[in-house]
Amino acid sequence: TRPKLLIASPIFPEVVDKLQQHFDVEANRTDSVWTGEAFTSRLADKQAAFLTGAQTVNAQVLAQAPALKIVANMAVGYNNFDVAALEAAGVVGTNTPDVLTETTADFGFALLMATARRITEAEHFLRAGRWDKWRYDMLLGAEVHGSTLGIIGMGRIGQAVARRGVHGFGMQLIYHNRSPLDAATETELKARYAPTIEEVLREADHVVLVLPYTPAVHHLIGAEQIALMKPTATLINIARGGIVDDVALAAALQAGRIAAAGLDVFENEPHFAKELLEAHNVVLTPHIASATRTTRLAMANLAADNLIAFFTTGKALTPVTRG
Ligand code: GLV
Ligand code: GLV
Repeated sequence: TRPKLLIASPIFPEVVDKLQQHFDVEANRTDSVWTGEAFTSRLADKQAAFLTGAQTVNAQVLAQAPALKIVANMAVGYNNFDVAALEAAGVVGTNTPDVLTETTADFGFALLMATARRITEAEHFLRAGRWDKWRYDMLLGAEVHGSTLGIIGMGRIGQAVARRGVHGFGMQLIYHNRSPLDAATETELKARYAPTIEEVLREADHVVLVLPYTPAVHHLIGAEQIALMKPTATLINIARGGIVDDVALAAALQAGRIAAAGLDVFENEPHFAKELLEAHNVVLTPHIASATRTTRLAMANLAADNLIAFFTTGKALTPVTRG
């Protein structure tokens, strides 16, 4: 008999079809994700689950799913997994690295450009009928080329953003990461390692957050850290909501403490801090950094292939759990 699979969020029909060739599938065909009780009640008799990062998998959830063997996230981030609880229960967790790296970096750079050069603010200005004359100081933005790019979190995506900045825009690079880059990459990117995030915040003209979320980095960037930044600086978050204290950031933006921010991720999505809407100098997008058809399909296929490989070969392709 085929293993029972729960597909907890609506996904590409062609990927559901592929999974149906290997599993006895219960697929979410609504237009919203199953979380909480809607998720756990359906998980109870399943051996496998296809998730999108919205579903929490911790000891309490695992205790209600005794047959579960594997959970596959269609996301590179997996802060919805309690990895220790998965390992203790002998359940494999997988994510979707690599397939979204360049696409996500493209978006990070687009958000940096839109923020520094005030593109969405300028369009709002035009649409509101406020463009009535030429002015020498209309919508002045910040330089991108030749400026100092600060990256916090130098994984695959951080390095891909850095390459765009250094090779495409002649930027200087300062970065913080738990460990420095290898010497060859550091030389290629002419990168300067900062042992503390404070150093990056003080020196960079544009700070891009690309680090994974863990409880240890909750509100890593709050009022105190924003106060270290240059008043002309921009802050870009393409990492995870919760790393930035969004309410403190909104206040700093309103006070003109930094020039601007660009946010693709928020605490408590999709119910973000409405204070942000009061600030004109922030570009806000609804967690779409990996959202091209090609990349989202590649992510869905990698999550599906993890599930298929696990049941056919005994080994997942991109596990985040050990054992
Ligand atoms: C999106 O945020 C992801 O983790 O892939
Ligand atoms: C994700 O792939 C990262 O390492 O940044």
